[in-house]
Amino acid sequence: MSYDLLKTKNLTKVFESGFLRKTYIKAVDNVNIFLKEGEVVSLAGQSGSGKTTLAKMILRVLEPTSGEIIFKDKNIWRDLKGLKDLKWYWRNVHIIFQNPFSNFNPFYKVDRTLQQALELIGIDPDSHEGKQLIREALEVVGLRPDETLGKYPHQLSGGQLQRIMIARAWIIKPKLLLADEPVSMLDVSTRGKILELFLKLRDEQKTTVLFITHDFGLAYAVSDRVMIMYRGKIIEEGTPDEIFFNPKHKYTKELIESVPMLYRKWKFEL
Ligand SMILES: Nc1ncnc2c1ncn2[C@@H]1O[C@H](COP(=O)(O)OP(=O)(O)O)[C@@H](O)[C@H]1O
Ligand SMILES: [Mg+2]
Repeated sequence: MSYDLLKTKNLTKVFESGFLRKTYIKAVDNVNIFLKEGEVVSLAGQSGSGKTTLAKMILRVLEPTSGEIIFKDKNIWRDLKGLKDLKWYWRNVHIIFQNPFSNFNPFYKVDRTLQQALELIGIDPDSHEGKQLIREALEVVGLRPDETLGKYPHQLSGGQLQRIMIARAWIIKPKLLLADEPVSMLDVSTRGKILELFLKLRDEQKTTVLFITHDFGLAYAVSDRVMIMYRGKIIEEGTPDEIFFNPKHKYTKELIESVPMLYRKWKFEL
């Protein structure tokens, strides 16, 4: 039996903005979720529903306003202390960010990103093994090492940078991969290949993937389970078929309706 790898309890994030007249946005509102070992779970919801905020709290880079996140019996905002604990956590929980452009340092060649991944798992980037792993990782995501290595971020496209982030995740092989709109900049043929890679990580490494998307069609295609997020809340949860054929909320119906007809037909023929 697979066990709960991560749980959240009444997780909430309120953003405060404005100087004289303060306004508050409840980006994540009392969320209770669980993620089991070795499953692909989609978090689907329209833009602004709080998906990225939830992912950032789970990654432990954005502090919750209230509530708890439990990873392997550790309360990550209470029990992890010091660099050693954090490194342990980030080796176990990794993210592919939504916007690749803002997540590469423009002054470093993209190689640096992959070398840092090797350092995190204790492999010397200059060793033969390290160099070999980098080439392998690039090939796995369909990039040619000679066209990618030695380049600065501005010399590559959004789709290429997105694939480098996926290559980095492939090197680290975390227990939990938070994939925040990871294929948004890829064309359809590459997209399929990357989605298969997530399933492969699940099947071969027992990786848990939280697949974040605003596209219900993608959620339906890749996941074991789907959670629907709306205005900071998880409004329903179930298998892709349960949600697709028997959506309970008006909002979920709208999300399903927005999947193009042709695409839906294609899904059913799979
Ligand atoms: N750093 C921030 N400061 C203030 N408001 C924010 C911040 N980050 C996100 N928000 C707001 O929180 C809500 C949820 O945003 P986000 O988590 O990015 O949604 P999603 O990823 O589903 O598109 C939005 O209303 C957004 O404007
Ligand atoms: Mg987002």
